[in-house]
Amino acid sequence: MDHFQLRDGVLHAEDVPLTAIAEAVGTPVYVYSRATLTRHARVFREALSALPSIHIAFAVKSNPNLAVLKVLAREGYGADVVSAGEMHRALAAGMPAADIVFSGVGKTAREMHEALDVGLGQFNLESEEEGLELAAIAAVRGEVATAVLRVNPDVDARTHAKISTGKSENKFGVPYDQAAGIYARLAALPGLNMRGLAVHIGSQIADLEPSRVAFVKMGELMRTIRGQGDTVTHMDLGGGLGVPYRAGESLPEPAEYGEMVAEATRGWDATIMFEPGRVIAGNSGVLVTEVVRVKPGTVNPFVIVDAAMNDLVRPAMYDAWHDFAAVRPSGETMVANIVGPICESSDTFAMAREIDAVSAGDLAVFRTAGAYGATMANTYNSRALVPEVMVDGDKWAVVADRIEPATILAAERVPEWLA
Ligand code: LLP
Repeated sequence: MDHFQLRDGVLHAEDVPLTAIAEAVGTPVYVYSRATLTRHARVFREALSALPSIHIAFAVKSNPNLAVLKVLAREGYGADVVSAGEMHRALAAGMPAADIVFSGVGKTAREMHEALDVGLGQFNLESEEEGLELAAIAAVRGEVATAVLRVNPDVDARTHAKISTGKSENKFGVPYDQAAGIYARLAALPGLNMRGLAVHIGSQIADLEPSRVAFVKMGELMRTIRGQGDTVTHMDLGGGLGVPYRAGESLPEPAEYGEMVAEATRGWDATIMFEPGRVIAGNSGVLVTEVVRVKPGTVNPFVIVDAAMNDLVRPAMYDAWHDFAAVRPSGETMVANIVGPICESSDTFAMAREIDAVSAGDLAVFRTAGAYGATMANTYNSRALVPEVMVDGDKWAVVADRIEPATILAAERVPEWLA
């Protein structure tokens, strides 16, 4: 359930008509609903209420906007970060350093130092080499870094190949059959406090079975590691739960996920950690765009909108579907290709799709754009960096400015020898 609904024929974000935001801020613009974010955060937590001890770390990569992180910090969420940049955002939003986990295969020595400087809660190590490096850095500082070992369970999450992470050929984690040995060697190092294991098999997961299989395998590994005399108090099960992108599409509910996790982790005697991103932020945002013009096509017309693949890259990158809806639907429909202004054919949001009838000057939205939307935006074709707005009841505010091409140009220099 989200708070983007038609009222008196106009699409609203909570109590604010999207027409008012578009008029004041211009388009394209991302609009987030505070109430939807809060609701999703609570539904996810509630779904895990049968577990004795949990920690939820929002995957900052899915939506790193400071105001979004603030809402989640207020819900008691920590953060899953993959760079020092994300870590500093989470801290700026008021998330305690102890509630932050640092994932990612390429943490640099500098990032390790920065994380130790702030007292970060947990490093999710992705290789023995990384563990050795962190242990050495911590030892030199006279500190002990708290860490878990990310394991690659070799389970196919049955999602898009580009967002699948748990197969043996993927770059993430250590091989399952080597994990117990690596764990023992890392746990023996004075610079590390090894406290558990982590797994994350992919994103936009629409079928709970692969996750269940992975979690059961992780439970077996946990027992092996305890059996060899090492301690395991934390088990990080990652994120990945998918969301419906098409009206009428049905995906596992957080409650079903929670039941599966409770079953798979029964008797673990560990704090179970989660790193949800999309399931919290996805349906909390839309991308508002204006139709520039409609151009006839050989089969279907092209609806050319002022948003492009630089603002929302998911369709171009993963063939992803985002529902498209008019802000003031007339009740008529049309079959059209929806495209942006960028000069390549991958700047296509939809082909031959039945949509609300629109014409030049009309406003429309791409739905379910709150996760992996603005965060993946760029300035290709020297376009502006898309702004973000948050709505809360009848209030709204710009929570990220539009960065104009002139500002980006001003950061570039022509060397003297070219002047
Ligand atoms: N934890 C780890 C270690 C991850 O790599 C990810 C996502 C998450 C948690 C959060 O997963 P979520 O709950 O959001 O599925 N840009 C792609 C998605 C990339 C996901 C990368 N890792 C997209 O637009 O679909």
